[in-house]
Amino acid sequence: MKNILAPSILSCDYMNMQRDFTECKENGVKWLHVDIMDGHFVPNLSFGYSLVKSMRPVTDLVLDVHLMIDTPIKYAENFCKAGADYLTIHVEADTPENIRKTLELIRSLGVKPGIVVKPKTPAEAIEEYLPMVDMVLVMTVEPGFGGQKFMADMMPKVKKLREMLDKVNPECHLEVDGGVDLVTVNECKANGANVFVAGSAYFGSSDKKAFTVEIEK
Ligand code: DX5
Ligand code: ZN
Repeated sequence: MKNILAPSILSCDYMNMQRDFTECKENGVKWLHVDIMDGHFVPNLSFGYSLVKSMRPVTDLVLDVHLMIDTPIKYAENFCKAGADYLTIHVEADTPENIRKTLELIRSLGVKPGIVVKPKTPAEAIEEYLPMVDMVLVMTVEPGFGGQKFMADMMPKVKKLREMLDKVNPECHLEVDGGVDLVTVNECKANGANVFVAGSAYFGSSDKKAFTVEIEK
C-alpha cells in the first residue's frame, strides 16, 4: 500500500496555522492529522469541531481527525459536518453497541470511519469492527501528548492487525501515531503500517520536504 505522512497539527504554530497548512502542502504533504482531546478520555485538552470547520475552507488536504474523547457518538456528527475526511474513534471510549453505531453513523454521513487502540488494548478488541472501517490506528504512545517516546513493543500488534485486515478488509489503511520519526518509521513500515502520524518530528524538522519524501518512500 502507498505510504502516507500525516503531520499532527498538535505540534504546529497555533498563531500561524493557515501558514503551516499551506507550507505542508508546498512540502508535498497530503494529509493533516487533527488530535481532538476532551480532558476525560485523555488527561489533556486540545481542539473542538470549530477548528475543523475553520480548516475546511482554507486547505484541501485530507483531514484525518483523531477523536480522543469519551462517548464519541455524541459528537461524531458535528465532526463529520465540520469537514473531516477520516474520523477515528477509540474502541475504549464507549460500549461495543455504541462503537458500532458510531462507525455506521460516520459512514452514513459520507465520512471514512476509523477505529483506534490504545497501547494496552489488544488487536482482538477491534476484530469485529475491521470489516466496517477505512482505517485502523495503533497508538505507539499513550494518547494525550505530543513528543513522547515511541513504543517499539507495539510492533507485533501492528503486524497482527495487518494480517487480520488482509483477510477481511485488504484496502484498509493501517496508521501509527506517537513518536514516529525518520528512524522509528522503518519498524512501522516493516510491520505493515502505511499511514504515519508525525507531530514533533515533522514540525521540528529543518527540511520538511525531505522528511515527507523519506517517510513516504
Ligand atoms: C498523541 C496524539 C498524537 C501526537 C503525536 O496523543 O494522538 O497525534 O500529536 O505527536 P508526536 O509525533 O510528537 O509523538
Ligand atoms: Zn493522534
